[in-house]
Amino acid sequence: MPASRRGSGSITLPSGQTLAIHTRTQDEEGLPHATKRTMADHLRKFESLFTLTPQRMRMITEAFSETLELGLKKPGQVVPMIPTYVFGWPTGEEVGDFLALDLGGTNLRVCLVSLKGNGQFEITQTKYRLTEEQKQEDGENLFDFCAECLKTFILTNMDSIVEQGADEEGVKEDGATVAAATAQAAAGESEGGGALIKPGQELALGFTFSYPCAQERIDHGELIRWTKGFGAPNTEGRDVAEMFRKALSKHDLPIKLTALINDTTGTLIASHYVNPRTKIAVIFGTGCNAAYMEHVSEIDKIAHLGIDPKADMAINCEWGAFDSFEHEHLPRTPYDIIVDQTSNKPEEQAFEKLISGRYLGEILRLVICELIDEGVLFLGQNTYKLDEPYCFDTAFLSLMESDPTDELLMVIGIFTHFFALETTLAERQFFRALARLIGRRAARLSACGIAAIVQKMGYLDEGCSVGADGSLYNKYPGFADRVHEGLIDIFGEKGKNIVTHHAEDGSGVGSAIIAAMTKMRKDAGIYPNV
Ligand code: GLC
Repeated sequence: MPASRRGSGSITLPSGQTLAIHTRTQDEEGLPHATKRTMADHLRKFESLFTLTPQRMRMITEAFSETLELGLKKPGQVVPMIPTYVFGWPTGEEVGDFLALDLGGTNLRVCLVSLKGNGQFEITQTKYRLTEEQKQEDGENLFDFCAECLKTFILTNMDSIVEQGADEEGVKEDGATVAAATAQAAAGESEGGGALIKPGQELALGFTFSYPCAQERIDHGELIRWTKGFGAPNTEGRDVAEMFRKALSKHDLPIKLTALINDTTGTLIASHYVNPRTKIAVIFGTGCNAAYMEHVSEIDKIAHLGIDPKADMAINCEWGAFDSFEHEHLPRTPYDIIVDQTSNKPEEQAFEKLISGRYLGEILRLVICELIDEGVLFLGQNTYKLDEPYCFDTAFLSLMESDPTDELLMVIGIFTHFFALETTLAERQFFRALARLIGRRAARLSACGIAAIVQKMGYLDEGCSVGADGSLYNKYPGFADRVHEGLIDIFGEKGKNIVTHHAEDGSGVGSAIIAAMTKMRKDAGIYPNV
């Protein structure tokens, strides 16, 4: 057996302390291993590191509320509280056909949304997976890719989008343009009934770009910083709506970018469209963020625009940035600090890094690696597969937590299949308990963010619904219950008045509703310049 951190026998730590290696029982193939007792001892340390007391949660909520207020007053704050120029709630009667393009943390999605009124809609969509390379390539390439996907979608769904029998003059030679495809479709079997636009007309597009963008108008947005592991150069500080328009202009597409929105704003509007009790929207996915409806009179930093102070406007909080740089309020463990320092954006998105799906698996992996280094776990086995940053998917935490078997067969499966490692029952119980601690902390911190908005807006007594979306909220077992428990820990019994529910598709449907609201507002001449 080579002498390495994975060796068996005894290990002397730099502190001089010697760790004995424990041996498995026969049914565990006689490999040396840690005993259940040792794992339970270790667990206690992690319990105290990852557990948030109600008192601590209340302190975080307080600081959070103050940060939100500050972001509304002054421009350029860490939590930027971005005015979105989405004015007030939808009526539910918005109708029409809209395109939505959704650049999230993991996928690119193109949707065709038909709003039917009465809170009803139909949606046709295609998803494209984004590669890690695309996230780091020049921004212009990224937007070119978006425009190409949009074009493919339009060409594929041509019959239902563009009216048949296009004007021959519109047909170009290369045969790849929309106009040409329209003519081809006209020659085909389709009747062309129900087409959305006539040749020469344009279809409104809502672009859901889920990164912090400072907006001067609804169809503009300067990228403040990339988040969620994106790093495409040549994009930060630039108007991404304009970059996308430029990419779009390389194709002959009958599309007009009407609104640039954040996924949280879309979620807020879409959830309210179907459930008017919704007052706040949150995303717990690859990233973590919230939006809510604010009184314009409270947004001091845009007072100079002269917008009616009695109007309401959605605010994209970008709360993932809470406690960035200063690190005064959030209880970070040594593992959180490593996640932060090894990320492409050290010091930024401090709140998000403790909560979102992008990071939870990595936090757990770092704990495991430390215990391997200390000679506590996987003795005598080759653990090199765990050395790869981000190899431990947050989905593994969900699976471990939901394993219904006494033997924790799911946990066995994860470690043997993905990491070629054998585990003892004690280790498996430890891993599951660790997943619980990390998942629970994420949910309780999320509750602090929600509580801060509730407190700021005075929603506690009357209560409200919080539309929530994202893989963590939708797939992580017990996440919503833990958020609700957290709200009770912060507010006492009244915390029960705040209830999260699975949101409507904000980036698709929400984006379409906002495009419709914007069109109606502009047609009516209300704040036409924003
Ligand atoms: C990140 C982005 C934010 C987005 C959130 C959820 O925090 O900065 O804009 O809303 O992820 O996708």
